[in-house]
Amino acid sequence: MNHEIVVEISSVFELMFGSKPRLFRSPGRVNIIGEHTDYNEGFVLPAAIDKAIYVGIAAREDNKIRLQTLEFDDAITTDLDSLVPDDKGWPNYVLGVAQQLQKRGYTIGGFDMVFNGDVPIGSGLSSSAAVECATAFALNEIFSLGISKKDLAFIAQKAEHEFAGVMCGIMDQFASVFGKEQHVIHLDCRSIEFEYVPLQMEGYAFLLLNTNVKHALASTEYNTRRQQCERGVALVQEHVEGVRSLRDISMEQLDRWVRPVEDIVYQRCKYVIEENQRLLAAVEHLKNGDLAALGKEMFESHNGLSTLYDVSCRELDFLVDFVKKEPAVLGARMMGGGFGGCTINLIKEDAIEELVSKITPAYQEAMELQLDHYIAKTANGSAEIKPEFPESLMPEKI
Ligand code: GLA
Repeated sequence: MNHEIVVEISSVFELMFGSKPRLFRSPGRVNIIGEHTDYNEGFVLPAAIDKAIYVGIAAREDNKIRLQTLEFDDAITTDLDSLVPDDKGWPNYVLGVAQQLQKRGYTIGGFDMVFNGDVPIGSGLSSSAAVECATAFALNEIFSLGISKKDLAFIAQKAEHEFAGVMCGIMDQFASVFGKEQHVIHLDCRSIEFEYVPLQMEGYAFLLLNTNVKHALASTEYNTRRQQCERGVALVQEHVEGVRSLRDISMEQLDRWVRPVEDIVYQRCKYVIEENQRLLAAVEHLKNGDLAALGKEMFESHNGLSTLYDVSCRELDFLVDFVKKEPAVLGARMMGGGFGGCTINLIKEDAIEELVSKITPAYQEAMELQLDHYIAKTANGSAEIKPEFPESLMPEKI
């Protein structure tokens, strides 16, 4: 937990609103393999990480919503009765959740909220899902709504669709709510059944390399990919009964009914079908402790994302190509929606320092951008925080 952020939120909250807030945290996520499969009713393998969004919140007597973000040092005041997306962008991940709760018939009142986090924004670690899930989790608690964790994840996802305009799948919100330390979540995005798979890393770690390319194009291209997959499904449905999603389609059917008609759509769908197969193999490798085989699936995944699904970019490709020559790196791939953000690298722990000292200047010289790196530590999902630090360390009352 990031104590500094929690202390700051508490003190700003008390200063602005004159009372002590309740505190909540919801994490960002990594995904080991299974990209762009969630909205195709496929499988994903995410884990929540120790970078999170923190929220200080208290219910109000009226219908006003007052939000303060410390990250952007900005604030808005609005009303529960007139919730619409805000041009500033950042409030939408909170307001969208409040609106979803209303739409589902839950009675909530106004609230004051201060939030901040240490999930790097726009880096593919799902800071937006973390804000949505922190909000959904907190509102559920302070208004005693009794909503299940699964439904909180779906509410957060719908908020992203309607207030941020990204037709995302369920992976990020699910990982943020359900994360478990030392485990990855093997989630079936069709049935929403899941299992926790223990991470046995034996001297290896997941290293994130952040391109610092903000995925500006990502939301339009993301929605286009989703439509292309739906188009592929529609083409097969013309000939085969009982097909609902790419999950139901074999490579043979794709070759027969889609390839001759629309090549781009064919490539997109081919990637998704292969990625689901890779994921199932990867889960077995992880369970058997075969990290070398897991790494191979990750490199293959990147190859598909870059050449067939076309959601990579030169910066991501540079980083993955670079580490292919490093024996200490068993696998690497772009992570998340694409067009920027981070690569995830399966690397020998004691080789991290050396790799970082080589790849950082090489990336900076080739791409004229800074390279950041983090080691992905797994963490638990959304929860209320009971400050562990003694009262004496809390900010003075003003
Ligand atoms: C984004 C979306 C997820 C998922 C990934 C790609 O992170 O929010 O639902 O589709 O992209 O795997």
